[in-house]
Amino acid sequence: MNLASAAGITLEALRRRCAGVALLTAAEDTAPYLSDHRRLYHGRALAVALPQTVAQLAALMSCCHELGIGVVPQGGNTSYCGGATPDESGQQLVIGLGRMNRVRAIDAANFSMTVEAGCLLEQVQRAAAGAGCYFPLELGSAGSCQIGGNLATNAGGLNVLRFGMARDLTLGIEAVLPDGRVFQRLRSLRKDNTGYDLKSLLIGSEGTLGIITAATLKLWPQRHGSSTAFVAVADVGAAIALLALLRGAAGERLNSFELLPRAAIELACRYIPDTRAPLGTASAWYVLCELGSFVDEQLDELLQNTLAQATSAGLVQDAAIAASEAQRRAFWNLREAIPEAQRRAGPGVKHDISVPVSALPAFVAEASAWVAGHVSEGTLVAYGHAGDGNLHFNINWLGGAASAADVAAQEPVIRRAIHDLVAAHGGSISAEHGIGRLKVAELQRYTSAVELDMMREIKRALDPKGIMNPGKLLGS
Ligand code: FAD
Ligand code: MLT
Ligand code: ZN
Repeated sequence: MNLASAAGITLEALRRRCAGVALLTAAEDTAPYLSDHRRLYHGRALAVALPQTVAQLAALMSCCHELGIGVVPQGGNTSYCGGATPDESGQQLVIGLGRMNRVRAIDAANFSMTVEAGCLLEQVQRAAAGAGCYFPLELGSAGSCQIGGNLATNAGGLNVLRFGMARDLTLGIEAVLPDGRVFQRLRSLRKDNTGYDLKSLLIGSEGTLGIITAATLKLWPQRHGSSTAFVAVADVGAAIALLALLRGAAGERLNSFELLPRAAIELACRYIPDTRAPLGTASAWYVLCELGSFVDEQLDELLQNTLAQATSAGLVQDAAIAASEAQRRAFWNLREAIPEAQRRAGPGVKHDISVPVSALPAFVAEASAWVAGHVSEGTLVAYGHAGDGNLHFNINWLGGAASAADVAAQEPVIRRAIHDLVAAHGGSISAEHGIGRLKVAELQRYTSAVELDMMREIKRALDPKGIMNPGKLLGS
Protein backbone atom coordinates (compact mmCIF):
# COMPACT_ATOMS: atom_id res chain seq x y z
CA MET A 1 0.00 0.00 0.00
CA ASN A 2 1.39 3.44 -0.85
CA LEU A 3 1.70 6.22 1.75
CA ALA A 4 -1.22 8.26 0.38
CA SER A 5 -3.72 5.43 0.64
CA ALA A 6 -2.37 4.43 4.08
CA ALA A 7 -2.90 8.03 5.22
CA GLY A 8 -6.43 7.97 3.79
CA ILE A 9 -7.28 4.83 5.78
CA THR A 10 -5.80 6.30 8.97
CA LEU A 11 -7.78 9.51 8.54
CA GLU A 12 -10.94 7.55 7.94
CA ALA A 13 -10.37 5.65 11.22
CA LEU A 14 -9.79 8.92 13.09
CA ARG A 15 -12.97 10.45 11.65
CA ARG A 16 -15.03 7.40 12.53
CA ARG A 17 -13.76 7.05 16.08
CA CYS A 18 -13.39 10.69 17.03
CA ALA A 19 -16.69 12.21 16.02
CA GLY A 20 -16.89 15.92 16.80
CA VAL A 21 -13.16 16.59 16.41
CA ALA A 22 -12.53 18.95 13.48
CA LEU A 23 -9.89 17.43 11.20
CA LEU A 24 -8.37 19.91 8.75
CA THR A 25 -6.72 18.50 5.66
CA ALA A 26 -7.03 21.20 2.99
CA ALA A 27 -3.68 22.89 2.32
CA GLU A 28 -5.03 26.41 2.92
CA ASP A 29 -6.44 25.35 6.31
CA THR A 30 -3.41 23.43 7.55
CA ALA A 31 -0.71 25.84 6.32
CA PRO A 32 -0.57 28.07 9.45
CA TYR A 33 0.08 24.99 11.61
CA LEU A 34 2.94 23.60 9.52
CA SER A 35 5.69 26.21 10.06
CA ASP A 36 7.05 27.85 13.16
CA HIS A 37 6.68 31.62 13.47
CA ARG A 38 10.36 32.23 12.68
CA ARG A 39 9.97 30.12 9.51
CA LEU A 40 12.93 27.94 10.47
CA TYR A 41 10.92 24.72 10.21
CA HIS A 42 8.40 23.63 7.60
CA GLY A 43 6.61 20.33 8.07
CA ARG A 44 3.78 18.30 6.57
CA ALA A 45 0.98 16.59 8.45
CA LEU A 46 -1.58 13.85 8.11
CA ALA A 47 -4.10 16.45 9.33
CA VAL A 48 -4.64 19.11 11.96
CA ALA A 49 -7.08 18.08 14.68
CA LEU A 50 -8.93 20.70 16.71
CA PRO A 51 -10.66 19.05 19.70
CA GLN A 52 -13.06 21.08 21.83
CA THR A 53 -13.35 18.91 24.91
CA VAL A 54 -11.14 16.71 27.06
CA ALA A 55 -13.30 13.69 26.16
CA GLN A 56 -12.76 14.35 22.44
CA LEU A 57 -9.02 14.70 22.93
CA ALA A 58 -8.88 11.54 25.05
CA ALA A 59 -10.65 9.58 22.30
CA LEU A 60 -8.30 11.03 19.71
CA MET A 61 -5.18 10.12 21.71
CA SER A 62 -6.45 6.63 22.40
CA CYS A 63 -6.93 6.14 18.67
CA CYS A 64 -3.47 7.59 17.85
CA HIS A 65 -1.94 5.31 20.47
CA GLU A 66 -3.57 2.24 18.99
CA LEU A 67 -2.62 3.16 15.42
CA GLY A 68 0.87 4.40 16.35
CA ILE A 69 0.31 7.91 14.97
CA GLY A 70 2.84 10.53 16.07
CA VAL A 71 1.16 13.66 17.46
CA VAL A 72 2.43 17.22 17.70
CA PRO A 73 0.60 19.42 20.22
CA GLN A 74 0.39 23.05 19.18
CA GLY A 75 -0.63 26.11 21.19
CA GLY A 76 -0.12 29.63 19.89
CA ASN A 77 2.88 28.54 17.77
CA THR A 78 5.07 31.36 19.12
CA SER A 79 7.91 29.25 20.48
CA TYR A 80 11.48 29.51 19.26
CA CYS A 81 12.77 25.95 19.03
CA GLY A 82 10.50 24.27 16.47
CA GLY A 83 8.74 22.13 19.10
CA ALA A 84 5.26 22.74 17.69
CA THR A 85 6.04 21.97 14.03
CA PRO A 86 5.50 18.46 12.58
CA ASP A 87 8.31 16.71 10.71
CA GLU A 88 8.43 16.40 6.92
CA SER A 89 6.98 12.87 6.74
CA GLY A 90 3.34 13.91 6.43
CA GLN A 91 2.49 11.09 8.87
CA GLN A 92 2.13 13.11 12.09
CA LEU A 93 -1.08 14.60 13.44
CA VAL A 94 -0.93 18.21 14.67
CA ILE A 95 -3.31 18.77 17.58
CA GLY A 96 -4.24 22.44 18.01
CA LEU A 97 -5.56 23.40 21.44
CA GLY A 98 -7.09 26.75 20.42
CA ARG A 99 -10.69 25.56 20.70
CA MET A 100 -10.27 24.49 24.33
CA ASN A 101 -10.23 28.04 25.63
CA ARG A 102 -12.67 28.41 28.51
CA VAL A 103 -11.90 30.00 31.84
CA ARG A 104 -13.43 27.26 33.98
CA ALA A 105 -13.39 28.92 37.40
CA ILE A 106 -11.90 31.74 39.42
CA ASP A 107 -11.67 31.36 43.19
CA ALA A 108 -10.66 34.86 44.30
CA ALA A 109 -10.70 33.91 47.99
CA ASN A 110 -8.23 31.08 47.29
CA PHE A 111 -6.24 33.25 44.86
CA SER A 112 -6.50 30.64 42.13
CA MET A 113 -8.11 30.16 38.74
CA THR A 114 -8.66 27.17 36.47
CA VAL A 115 -8.29 27.73 32.75
CA GLU A 116 -8.19 25.55 29.68
CA ALA A 117 -4.94 25.12 27.78
CA GLY A 118 -6.07 27.03 24.69
CA CYS A 119 -6.71 30.31 26.56
CA LEU A 120 -4.38 33.04 25.32
CA LEU A 121 -2.07 34.30 28.05
CA GLU A 122 -3.60 37.77 27.65
CA GLN A 123 -7.08 36.26 28.15
CA VAL A 124 -5.90 34.66 31.41
CA GLN A 125 -4.38 37.95 32.62
CA ARG A 126 -7.62 39.81 31.79
CA ALA A 127 -9.85 37.24 33.45
CA ALA A 128 -7.74 37.45 36.61
CA ALA A 129 -7.92 41.26 36.56
CA GLY A 130 -11.69 41.05 36.05
CA ALA A 131 -11.92 39.17 39.34
CA GLY A 132 -9.78 41.77 41.11
CA CYS A 133 -6.65 39.61 40.99
CA TYR A 134 -3.27 39.56 39.26
CA PHE A 135 -1.68 36.76 37.23
CA PRO A 136 1.99 37.70 36.87
CA LEU A 137 3.24 35.69 33.85
CA GLU A 138 4.23 38.34 31.28
CA LEU A 139 5.77 37.74 27.83
CA GLY A 140 5.99 39.87 24.71
CA SER A 141 3.88 37.20 22.98
CA ALA A 142 1.00 37.36 25.52
CA GLY A 143 -1.54 38.20 22.80
CA SER A 144 -0.80 35.05 20.78
CA CYS A 145 0.73 32.37 23.04
CA GLN A 146 -1.54 30.00 24.97
CA ILE A 147 -1.32 29.13 28.65
CA GLY A 148 -0.95 25.43 27.66
CA GLY A 149 2.09 26.37 25.55
CA ASN A 150 3.44 28.50 28.40
CA LEU A 151 3.23 25.53 30.73
CA ALA A 152 4.56 23.05 28.17
CA THR A 153 7.64 25.25 27.74
CA ASN A 154 7.78 26.44 31.37
CA ALA A 155 7.89 29.99 30.04
CA GLY A 156 9.76 32.73 31.88
CA GLY A 157 9.44 36.33 30.77
CA LEU A 158 9.56 39.69 32.47
CA ASN A 159 8.43 39.00 36.05
CA VAL A 160 10.38 35.87 36.96
CA LEU A 161 12.59 37.69 39.45
CA ARG A 162 9.63 38.22 41.78
CA PHE A 163 7.08 35.55 40.81
CA GLY A 164 9.05 32.68 39.22
CA MET A 165 8.61 30.71 36.01
CA ALA A 166 5.33 29.22 34.72
CA ARG A 167 5.93 26.11 36.85
CA ASP A 168 6.09 28.22 40.01
CA LEU A 169 2.72 29.77 39.15
CA THR A 170 0.91 26.43 38.81
CA LEU A 171 -1.06 24.55 41.45
CA GLY A 172 -2.69 21.88 39.31
CA ILE A 173 -2.66 20.31 35.87
CA GLU A 174 -5.07 18.27 33.78
CA ALA A 175 -3.57 16.40 30.83
CA VAL A 176 -4.37 13.65 28.38
CA LEU A 177 -1.68 10.98 28.43
CA PRO A 178 -0.35 9.32 25.27
CA ASP A 179 -2.70 6.34 25.63
CA GLY A 180 -5.79 8.52 26.14
CA ARG A 181 -6.00 8.32 29.93
CA VAL A 182 -6.78 11.61 31.65
CA PHE A 183 -4.44 12.82 34.39
CA GLN A 184 -6.72 14.93 36.62
CA ARG A 185 -4.88 16.95 39.19
CA LEU A 186 -6.57 20.31 39.16
CA ARG A 187 -6.20 20.78 42.89
CA SER A 188 -5.88 24.33 44.07
CA LEU A 189 -3.73 23.53 47.10
CA ARG A 190 -0.59 25.34 48.23
CA LYS A 191 0.45 22.30 50.26
CA ASP A 192 0.14 18.78 48.88
CA ASN A 193 2.95 16.31 49.60
CA THR A 194 1.37 13.15 48.27
CA GLY A 195 4.06 11.45 46.26
CA TYR A 196 5.90 12.47 43.13
CA ASP A 197 5.11 15.90 41.74
CA LEU A 198 3.64 14.69 38.44
CA LYS A 199 2.31 18.08 37.39
CA SER A 200 5.83 19.46 37.49
CA LEU A 201 6.96 16.67 35.20
CA LEU A 202 4.40 17.67 32.58
CA ILE A 203 5.33 21.34 32.89
CA GLY A 204 8.32 21.99 30.63
CA SER A 205 7.97 18.62 28.87
CA GLU A 206 7.24 20.37 25.55
CA GLY A 207 4.45 18.01 24.52
CA THR A 208 6.62 14.89 24.82
CA LEU A 209 4.78 13.27 27.75
CA GLY A 210 1.15 14.30 27.31
CA ILE A 211 -1.16 17.10 26.25
CA ILE A 212 -2.00 19.67 28.90
CA THR A 213 -5.72 20.46 28.73
CA ALA A 214 -6.19 22.73 31.75
CA ALA A 215 -4.33 24.23 34.68
CA THR A 216 -5.06 25.72 38.06
CA LEU A 217 -2.94 28.83 38.43
CA LYS A 218 -1.86 30.95 41.37
CA LEU A 219 -3.22 34.47 41.60
CA TRP A 220 -2.10 37.48 43.59
CA PRO A 221 -4.04 40.54 44.74
CA GLN A 222 -4.16 43.26 42.12
CA ARG A 223 -0.97 45.32 42.22
CA HIS A 224 -1.49 48.61 44.01
CA GLY A 225 1.21 50.51 42.22
CA SER A 226 4.50 50.31 40.40
CA SER A 227 7.56 52.40 39.77
CA THR A 228 9.59 51.89 36.62
CA ALA A 229 13.01 53.27 35.71
CA PHE A 230 15.13 53.35 32.60
CA VAL A 231 18.74 53.58 33.72
CA ALA A 232 22.04 54.11 31.91
CA VAL A 233 24.91 52.04 33.36
CA ALA A 234 28.53 51.88 32.27
CA ASP A 235 28.84 48.12 31.98
CA VAL A 236 27.38 44.76 32.97
CA GLY A 237 29.28 44.78 36.28
CA ALA A 238 27.60 48.07 37.22
CA ALA A 239 24.21 46.60 36.27
CA ILE A 240 24.74 43.58 38.51
CA ALA A 241 25.90 45.80 41.40
CA LEU A 242 22.75 47.91 40.87
CA LEU A 243 20.66 44.72 40.99
CA ALA A 244 22.12 43.85 44.39
CA LEU A 245 21.49 47.37 45.66
CA LEU A 246 17.87 47.30 44.47
CA ARG A 247 17.25 43.87 45.97
CA GLY A 248 18.66 45.08 49.27
CA ALA A 249 16.56 48.24 49.29
CA ALA A 250 13.33 47.01 47.73
CA GLY A 251 13.34 43.28 48.56
CA GLU A 252 10.37 41.49 47.03
CA ARG A 253 9.14 44.70 45.46
CA LEU A 254 11.72 44.34 42.70
CA ASN A 255 9.66 42.59 40.01
CA SER A 256 11.75 43.04 36.86
CA PHE A 257 15.35 43.77 36.00
CA GLU A 258 16.10 43.76 32.27
CA LEU A 259 19.49 44.51 30.72
CA LEU A 260 19.52 46.19 27.30
CA PRO A 261 22.55 47.10 25.20
CA ARG A 262 22.54 50.28 23.15
CA ALA A 263 22.45 48.21 19.94
CA ALA A 264 19.05 46.78 21.00
CA ILE A 265 17.60 50.23 21.72
CA GLU A 266 18.86 51.52 18.38
CA LEU A 267 17.33 48.59 16.49
CA ALA A 268 13.96 49.01 18.22
CA CYS A 269 13.91 52.76 17.50
CA ARG A 270 14.87 52.18 13.88
CA TYR A 271 12.51 49.35 12.99
CA ILE A 272 9.47 49.70 15.26
CA PRO A 273 7.19 52.74 14.92
CA ASP A 274 6.45 54.87 17.99
CA THR A 275 9.51 53.82 19.95
CA ARG A 276 12.17 56.23 21.18
CA ALA A 277 15.14 56.11 23.53
CA PRO A 278 14.07 57.39 26.96
CA LEU A 279 17.46 58.89 27.88
CA GLY A 280 19.65 61.47 26.13
CA THR A 281 22.78 59.92 27.63
CA ALA A 282 24.43 57.51 25.21
CA SER A 283 25.60 54.52 27.18
CA ALA A 284 26.75 51.03 26.23
CA TRP A 285 24.19 49.42 28.53
CA TYR A 286 20.79 50.24 30.02
CA VAL A 287 18.63 48.65 32.71
CA LEU A 288 14.85 48.65 32.72
CA CYS A 289 13.67 47.85 36.23
CA GLU A 290 10.30 47.89 37.94
CA LEU A 291 9.16 47.84 41.54
CA GLY A 292 5.62 46.68 42.30
CA SER A 293 3.62 46.46 45.47
CA PHE A 294 0.31 45.10 46.68
CA VAL A 295 -0.06 47.85 49.26
CA ASP A 296 -0.01 51.64 49.15
CA GLU A 297 3.67 52.61 49.27
CA GLN A 298 5.90 55.40 48.02
CA LEU A 299 7.60 53.29 45.37
CA ASP A 300 8.86 56.23 43.29
CA GLU A 301 10.61 57.62 46.34
CA LEU A 302 12.18 54.25 47.16
CA LEU A 303 13.40 53.82 43.58
CA GLN A 304 14.65 57.40 43.37
CA ASN A 305 16.62 57.11 46.62
CA THR A 306 18.17 53.82 45.59
CA LEU A 307 19.14 55.17 42.18
CA ALA A 308 20.66 58.27 43.85
CA GLN A 309 22.72 55.97 46.07
CA ALA A 310 23.79 53.99 42.99
CA THR A 311 24.74 57.20 41.21
CA SER A 312 26.92 58.25 44.15
CA ALA A 313 28.56 54.82 44.03
CA GLY A 314 29.37 55.42 40.35
CA LEU A 315 27.05 52.67 39.09
CA VAL A 316 24.45 54.82 37.34
CA GLN A 317 25.15 57.45 34.67
CA ASP A 318 21.62 58.69 34.08
CA ALA A 319 18.09 57.55 34.90
CA ALA A 320 14.44 58.37 34.20
CA ILE A 321 11.56 57.21 36.36
CA ALA A 322 8.27 56.86 34.47
CA ALA A 323 6.11 59.84 35.41
CA SER A 324 2.86 58.33 34.10
CA GLU A 325 1.35 55.02 33.06
CA ALA A 326 1.83 56.12 29.43
CA GLN A 327 5.55 56.62 30.01
CA ARG A 328 5.82 53.30 31.84
CA ARG A 329 4.08 51.62 28.89
CA ALA A 330 6.51 53.36 26.50
CA PHE A 331 9.51 51.94 28.40
CA TRP A 332 8.07 48.45 28.24
CA ASN A 333 6.98 48.77 24.59
CA LEU A 334 10.57 49.63 23.74
CA ARG A 335 11.79 46.52 25.58
CA GLU A 336 9.16 44.26 24.03
CA ALA A 337 9.87 45.63 20.54
CA ILE A 338 13.41 44.22 20.51
CA PRO A 339 12.69 40.67 19.22
CA GLU A 340 10.57 42.01 16.34
CA ALA A 341 13.14 44.72 15.54
CA GLN A 342 15.82 42.04 15.38
CA ARG A 343 13.69 39.97 13.04
CA ARG A 344 13.22 42.94 10.71
CA ALA A 345 16.88 44.03 10.91
CA GLY A 346 18.27 41.01 9.08
CA PRO A 347 19.34 37.44 9.69
CA GLY A 348 20.57 36.51 13.12
CA VAL A 349 21.57 33.82 15.56
CA LYS A 350 19.68 33.56 18.86
CA HIS A 351 20.86 32.12 22.16
CA ASP A 352 18.76 31.79 25.29
CA ILE A 353 21.34 31.28 28.00
CA SER A 354 21.55 31.64 31.75
CA VAL A 355 24.47 31.75 34.15
CA PRO A 356 24.55 32.58 37.85
CA VAL A 357 23.85 36.31 38.13
CA SER A 358 27.30 36.81 39.71
CA ALA A 359 28.93 35.27 36.61
CA LEU A 360 27.13 37.49 34.09
CA PRO A 361 29.84 40.20 33.82
CA ALA A 362 32.62 37.68 33.17
CA PHE A 363 30.47 35.64 30.78
CA VAL A 364 29.44 38.71 28.76
CA ALA A 365 33.06 39.94 28.59
CA GLU A 366 34.39 36.58 27.38
CA ALA A 367 31.54 35.82 24.97
CA SER A 368 31.60 39.36 23.53
CA ALA A 369 35.36 39.09 22.97
CA TRP A 370 34.79 35.79 21.15
CA VAL A 371 32.13 37.35 18.92
CA ALA A 372 34.34 40.38 18.16
CA GLY A 373 37.20 38.08 17.20
CA HIS A 374 35.26 35.54 15.15
CA VAL A 375 32.12 37.21 13.77
CA SER A 376 33.43 40.55 12.58
CA GLU A 377 30.38 41.39 10.40
CA GLY A 378 27.92 40.49 13.16
CA THR A 379 26.45 42.96 15.67
CA LEU A 380 26.00 41.66 19.18
CA VAL A 381 22.51 42.35 20.57
CA ALA A 382 22.65 40.62 23.96
CA TYR A 383 19.66 41.59 26.07
CA GLY A 384 17.24 40.06 28.50
CA HIS A 385 16.28 39.07 31.97
CA ALA A 386 19.56 39.82 33.75
CA GLY A 387 17.86 39.70 37.15
CA ASP A 388 17.41 35.97 36.49
CA GLY A 389 20.89 35.53 34.95
CA ASN A 390 19.15 35.00 31.57
CA LEU A 391 20.35 36.77 28.42
CA HIS A 392 19.26 36.41 24.81
CA PHE A 393 22.84 36.52 23.57
CA ASN A 394 21.86 37.26 19.97
CA ILE A 395 23.94 38.30 16.97
CA ASN A 396 22.47 40.16 13.99
CA TRP A 397 23.89 40.75 10.53
CA LEU A 398 22.63 44.25 9.78
CA GLY A 399 22.12 46.04 6.49
CA GLY A 400 22.70 43.00 4.28
CA ALA A 401 26.03 42.12 6.03
CA ALA A 402 25.28 38.46 5.23
CA SER A 403 22.57 36.35 3.63
CA ALA A 404 20.38 34.08 5.72
CA ALA A 405 22.17 31.10 4.17
CA ASP A 406 25.60 32.47 5.16
CA VAL A 407 24.40 33.04 8.70
CA ALA A 408 22.91 29.54 8.89
CA ALA A 409 26.25 28.12 7.74
CA GLN A 410 28.11 29.95 10.54
CA GLU A 411 25.54 29.18 13.23
CA PRO A 412 26.85 25.78 14.45
CA VAL A 413 30.35 27.13 15.14
CA ILE A 414 29.00 30.23 16.89
CA ARG A 415 26.51 28.24 18.94
CA ARG A 416 29.20 25.79 20.03
CA ALA A 417 31.56 28.56 21.18
CA ILE A 418 28.87 30.46 23.11
CA HIS A 419 27.39 27.36 24.69
CA ASP A 420 30.81 26.02 25.71
CA LEU A 421 31.41 29.33 27.51
CA VAL A 422 27.97 29.07 29.14
CA ALA A 423 28.86 25.57 30.36
CA ALA A 424 32.22 26.79 31.67
CA HIS A 425 30.31 29.33 33.80
CA GLY A 426 27.92 26.70 35.18
CA GLY A 427 25.05 27.94 33.02
CA SER A 428 22.19 26.59 30.91
CA ILE A 429 21.88 26.51 27.11
CA SER A 430 18.11 26.98 27.39
CA ALA A 431 16.97 29.32 30.13
CA GLU A 432 13.34 29.74 29.09
CA HIS A 433 12.63 28.81 25.44
CA GLY A 434 13.07 25.03 25.74
CA ILE A 435 14.76 22.44 23.52
CA GLY A 436 12.23 21.59 20.79
CA ARG A 437 13.96 20.45 17.64
CA LEU A 438 16.57 23.20 17.57
CA LYS A 439 18.56 22.18 20.62
CA VAL A 440 18.27 18.38 20.68
CA ALA A 441 22.01 17.96 20.03
CA GLU A 442 22.83 20.71 22.54
CA LEU A 443 20.86 18.93 25.26
CA GLN A 444 22.82 15.75 24.55
CA ARG A 445 26.11 17.60 24.71
CA TYR A 446 25.57 19.59 27.90
CA THR A 447 23.52 17.15 30.01
CA SER A 448 25.03 14.35 32.09
CA ALA A 449 24.53 10.73 31.06
CA VAL A 450 22.61 10.03 34.27
CA GLU A 451 20.17 12.89 33.65
CA LEU A 452 19.64 11.83 30.04
CA ASP A 453 19.03 8.23 31.18
CA MET A 454 16.46 9.43 33.72
CA MET A 455 14.70 11.55 31.09
CA ARG A 456 14.61 8.65 28.60
CA GLU A 457 13.28 6.27 31.26
CA ILE A 458 10.49 8.69 32.16
CA LYS A 459 9.67 9.14 28.47
CA ARG A 460 9.57 5.35 27.92
CA ALA A 461 7.38 4.81 30.97
CA LEU A 462 4.75 7.36 29.95
CA ASP A 463 5.00 7.08 26.18
CA PRO A 464 6.22 3.56 25.38
CA LYS A 465 5.23 3.84 21.72
CA GLY A 466 7.02 7.18 21.33
CA ILE A 467 4.02 8.92 19.75
CA MET A 468 4.25 12.20 21.71
CA ASN A 469 6.00 14.91 19.73
CA PRO A 470 8.52 12.51 18.14
CA GLY A 471 11.99 13.90 17.53
CA LYS A 472 11.60 16.78 19.98
CA LEU A 473 13.53 17.38 23.21
CA LEU A 474 15.25 13.95 23.49
CA GLY A 475 15.36 13.37 19.73
CA SER A 476 14.52 10.01 18.23
P1 FAD B 1 3.72 26.60 20.99
O1 FAD B 1 4.76 27.37 20.26
O2 FAD B 1 2.50 26.29 20.23
O3 FAD B 1 4.33 25.24 21.53
C1 FAD B 1 5.52 25.21 22.29
C2 FAD B 1 5.83 23.77 22.74
O4 FAD B 1 4.83 23.34 23.66
C3 FAD B 1 5.78 22.75 21.61
O5 FAD B 1 6.71 21.73 21.90
C4 FAD B 1 4.37 22.18 21.66
O6 FAD B 1 4.32 20.86 21.17
C5 FAD B 1 4.09 22.23 23.15
N1 FAD B 1 2.69 22.49 23.51
C6 FAD B 1 1.93 23.57 23.19
N2 FAD B 1 0.73 23.48 23.78
C7 FAD B 1 0.74 22.33 24.50
C8 FAD B 1 -0.21 21.69 25.36
N3 FAD B 1 -1.41 22.21 25.59
N4 FAD B 1 0.15 20.51 25.92
C9 FAD B 1 1.36 19.96 25.71
N5 FAD B 1 2.29 20.52 24.92
C10 FAD B 1 1.98 21.70 24.33
N6 FAD B 1 9.25 32.87 25.98
C11 FAD B 1 9.68 33.03 27.25
O7 FAD B 1 9.84 32.05 27.98
N7 FAD B 1 9.95 34.29 27.75
C12 FAD B 1 9.78 35.41 27.02
O8 FAD B 1 10.04 36.51 27.48
C13 FAD B 1 9.28 35.26 25.69
N8 FAD B 1 9.06 36.34 24.93
C14 FAD B 1 8.61 36.18 23.66
C15 FAD B 1 8.36 37.31 22.90
C16 FAD B 1 7.91 37.18 21.59
C17 FAD B 1 7.65 38.42 20.79
C18 FAD B 1 7.72 35.88 21.04
C19 FAD B 1 7.23 35.70 19.63
C20 FAD B 1 7.94 34.75 21.79
C21 FAD B 1 8.40 34.88 23.11
N9 FAD B 1 8.62 33.77 23.92
C22 FAD B 1 9.06 33.94 25.20
C23 FAD B 1 8.48 32.40 23.36
C24 FAD B 1 7.05 31.81 23.41
O9 FAD B 1 6.06 32.80 23.35
C25 FAD B 1 6.88 30.93 24.63
O10 FAD B 1 7.75 29.82 24.53
C26 FAD B 1 5.46 30.41 24.85
O11 FAD B 1 5.40 29.82 26.13
C27 FAD B 1 5.00 29.40 23.80
O12 FAD B 1 3.59 29.24 23.89
P2 FAD B 1 2.74 28.76 22.62
O13 FAD B 1 1.32 28.62 23.05
O14 FAD B 1 2.99 29.65 21.48
O15 FAD B 1 3.37 27.33 22.37
C1 MLT C 1 12.37 38.08 25.08
O1 MLT C 1 12.74 38.08 26.24
O2 MLT C 1 12.12 39.13 24.44
C2 MLT C 1 12.22 36.77 24.38
O3 MLT C 1 12.26 35.71 25.27
C3 MLT C 1 13.34 36.60 23.40
C4 MLT C 1 12.92 36.82 22.03
O4 MLT C 1 11.73 37.00 21.78
O5 MLT C 1 13.78 36.77 21.17
ZN1 ZN D 1 13.10 36.25 27.15
